[in-house]
Amino acid sequence: MKRIKVNLDKPSSLSYEICIGHSILDRIGLVIAKGNLAQRYTVITDSNVSALYGQEVLNVLNKAKVRADLIEFPAGESSKNMDTVLAIAKELLARGTDRSSALIALGGGVTGDMTGFIASIYMRGVPCIQVPTTLMAQVDSSLGGKTGIDLREGKNLMGTFSQPQAVFIDLRFLETLPEEEFTHGLSEVVKYGIIDDVDLFTLLEENSDAIRTRNPDILQTIVERSCKIKKGIVEIDEKDVGVRRILNFGHTVGHAVEAASGYTIPHGHAVSVGMIASARISERMKYLPAEETKRIRSLLRSLGLADYIPASIHTETIISKIGADKKKKGEVVHFVLLKNIGMPFINGSVNEALLRETIEELKQ
Ligand SMILES: NC(=O)c1ccc[n+]([C@@H]2O[C@H](COP(=O)([O-])OP(=O)(O)OC[C@H]3O[C@@H](n4cnc5c(N)ncnc54)[C@H](O)[C@@H]3O)[C@@H](O)[C@H]2O)c1
Repeated sequence: MKRIKVNLDKPSSLSYEICIGHSILDRIGLVIAKGNLAQRYTVITDSNVSALYGQEVLNVLNKAKVRADLIEFPAGESSKNMDTVLAIAKELLARGTDRSSALIALGGGVTGDMTGFIASIYMRGVPCIQVPTTLMAQVDSSLGGKTGIDLREGKNLMGTFSQPQAVFIDLRFLETLPEEEFTHGLSEVVKYGIIDDVDLFTLLEENSDAIRTRNPDILQTIVERSCKIKKGIVEIDEKDVGVRRILNFGHTVGHAVEAASGYTIPHGHAVSVGMIASARISERMKYLPAEETKRIRSLLRSLGLADYIPASIHTETIISKIGADKKKKGEVVHFVLLKNIGMPFINGSVNEALLRETIEELKQ
């Protein structure tokens, strides 16, 4: 089991460890018992993950003499809202959960974001441990302390910055992940290669088949390297006011495509075309060599990610959604562009005509 320390610019009590390994669930129980964070623990999980791993996690905790129970909610993004938060908070109260308790988020990004949010506000805050079970959650959402829920008006509009007390990544969970969910998570791994680590990008190019068949060794390598990259960025800019914005690479166009499709295009595919759009814009603004755009597009395609925008989605709807993006500052939309793979920068002068042409070009 590998252990990565996240050192935040805060008292050391707020720094935490990410533990990564294959089949480490037993050890998780022991580490939680030894950590002695709380007198009792409530595992919050969705209905799918509960059916697969709920009892096993409870058994592991009980075996380590950790007092634990479980609350389940219906799986899916549509549960990530205030109604579910209130239902879970009421259930916690009914079970006598108090400030000597801690929550364990067992699941994907929906579970992690919502459990982190509840933990940050329940009785003015109780500790939260993240046990991510999707690739997306293991390489991205469980790390960095962004918690939140959706409103009818949009995704992630309510939330807090609240760091977990620990993150336990067991790669065995990925064995039961549906193909589509696994592929979505890969878009974030590719993003880390593009924005930070050309060697990771090359490794992905050279091992795309092994990755798609979920070879445990290659998965361990790419999850570990992704976590180290995200940790490094979060350590510098915990509250997302500076360098952390490079993590939005591909997301400005990606979110707009996702929203313009009425959320019928999954996030990972939308981010994938968003990354190609950003690379193409960088190329057309003479920052990025054309071969690099080709490499990005062909890697995404070889991993099963989308490399075009369906023709049925209107370019003008995408443009208007980009304008409405909450990352918009004043009248300028900031794009993360590239000088090379591994060399991102933030640019506020992408003109609308270029953006429109790039989106049109990616239509199929
Ligand atoms: N906080 C952040 O920094 C951050 C970053 C990226 C994404 N997010 C959020 O993450 C969410 C998306 O996360 P996600 O893609 O993990 O979605 P998800 O949590 O809905 O999980 C996807 C599906 O996989 C199922 N599942 C989970 N683990 C499984 C396993 N091991 N085996 C079988 N099935 C399993 C779930 O039940 C669900 O049906 C979004 O709400 C997004 O806003 C947050």
